Amino acid sequence: MSCYRPLPISFVRGEGAWLVAADGGRYLDAIAGLAVCGLGHAHPRVAAALATQAQRLLHVSNCFQIAEQQQLGERLSRLSGMDRVFFCNSGTEANEAALKLVRRYAVRQGNPQPVVVVAEGAFHGRTFGALSASAGGRTQDFGPLLPGFIRVPYGSMAALADVAADAVVAVMLEPIQGEAGVRTPPEGYLRAVRALCDQRGWLLILDEVQTGLCRTGRWFAWMHEEARPDVLTVAKALANGVPAGACLARQTVGEFARGEHGSTFGGNPLAARVALEVLDVLEELDLAGAAARLGQRMLDALRRQLADTPGVRAVRGRGLMIGVELEQECRVLSHRALEHKLLINVADAKVIRLLPPLIISDDEADQIVHTVVALVADFTGGKTAHVDPALS
Ligand SMILES: Cc1ncc(COP(=O)(O)O)c(C=O)c1O
Repeated sequence: MSCYRPLPISFVRGEGAWLVAADGGRYLDAIAGLAVCGLGHAHPRVAAALATQAQRLLHVSNCFQIAEQQQLGERLSRLSGMDRVFFCNSGTEANEAALKLVRRYAVRQGNPQPVVVVAEGAFHGRTFGALSASAGGRTQDFGPLLPGFIRVPYGSMAALADVAADAVVAVMLEPIQGEAGVRTPPEGYLRAVRALCDQRGWLLILDEVQTGLCRTGRWFAWMHEEARPDVLTVAKALANGVPAGACLARQTVGEFARGEHGSTFGGNPLAARVALEVLDVLEELDLAGAAARLGQRMLDALRRQLADTPGVRAVRGRGLMIGVELEQECRVLSHRALEHKLLINVADAKVIRLLPPLIISDDEADQIVHTVVALVADFTGGKTAHVDPALS
C-alpha cells in the first residue's frame, strides 16, 4: 500500500553516520532512521550481539522466563527511575500499554470513564488508542476514534490549569514534539506540568519514543527538568533498528495482572539482548554527553549562520533533535539534500528535522550544518552561503 512516498534512492549498506547507495554513492545520514539508529549503522557491537544471540536463541514466548528481558527490565528501570516494565515492539504499542495502564488505574480508583489530557500537535502513533491521543490530519477518515481525551495547546500551563473535568486521570505529552516539527515547550513547562499533576492527583505519561535514550543530551528528556513521569514510553532507539519498545511505570500506577495485556514478540531474547548492548554502548561512550555537546554546537552554528537568511522562522531543539523552521513549505528540500549527499527529514511541511546518529564526529556535525545552511539559503532566495565548515 502507498503509505509512504519514498525518496528515489535505496541503500545497500551503512557505516557509522554514512549510508552507501547501490552505485557506491555515500550519504551523510542526519535522520538515523527517524531517531532509531543512535549508534549509527553497522555498529560492530550491535552486529556482534545480534549475530551471537541469533545463533543462540531468537525467540521463546513469554510463557517462559527470559533472562535477557529480565536484565533489560532491571537496567531500564534503573536508568529511568521507574519500577515496572512492559515490553513490546514499537512506539505506538508502548503508548497503547500506557493508556490501558492509566485507564485500569482510574477504573480501580472508582473513575469508570477516565479522561486523558493530550496536546495539540501531539503524535503518539497509529493504532487506535495512540491515534486518538494524537492530533491533526492523521486522524481524519478513521473515525470513530476512542473517547476519553481532552486536547489542550502544547506548552501552555494556563490551558492545562483550566482543565476542570473531574474524570481526568492523566496528562500525556511528548517532552519535545517531534512529528509536529521539533516543537520545544517553554523552559520549565515539564516541571510545572509535573507539579500541577501532583497537585490535582493526575498521572503524568511522557512519550519519550523519539526523545528518549540520550537523543536530547540526557538519558530521558524529562531529566532536564526533573519532571519524572508516572508512566514513560520508549521505542525507536532502544535496539538501534531491531524492533523494540517498552512502557515503564512507577509502582504507584499498579501493573497489568496476568492476561490483562501482552505481546507475542515483546521483549524476546533477540530484541532484549541487542537493547542491552545498545544501552552498554550509550553508557560507555557517554553518548548523552556527546548529544548535548554536538547538539549545542550545531544549534549555535545554525543560528549564527542562518541569522541573516530570509525566510527562516526559527532554529530550535535540544541535543541532537534539531528543527529549522522556514516560512514556507519545504518538503522538496529532502530531495535537494540528496543531491548534496545528505539525508534530512522535513516535518510538518515547513520544518527541517535533523536527528543524526549520536556517534557523529565534530566534522560530520559541521558538514550537516554547512549543507543545511547552503540548502536553506538557496531555497529561500537568500544569498547562497559558502561557509567553511571549519568555522561553524
Ligand atoms: C513521540 C512518538 N510517539 C510514538 C511514535 C510511534 O512510534 P512507532 O512508529 O514505533 O509506532 C512516534 C513515531 O514517530 C513518535 O515520534
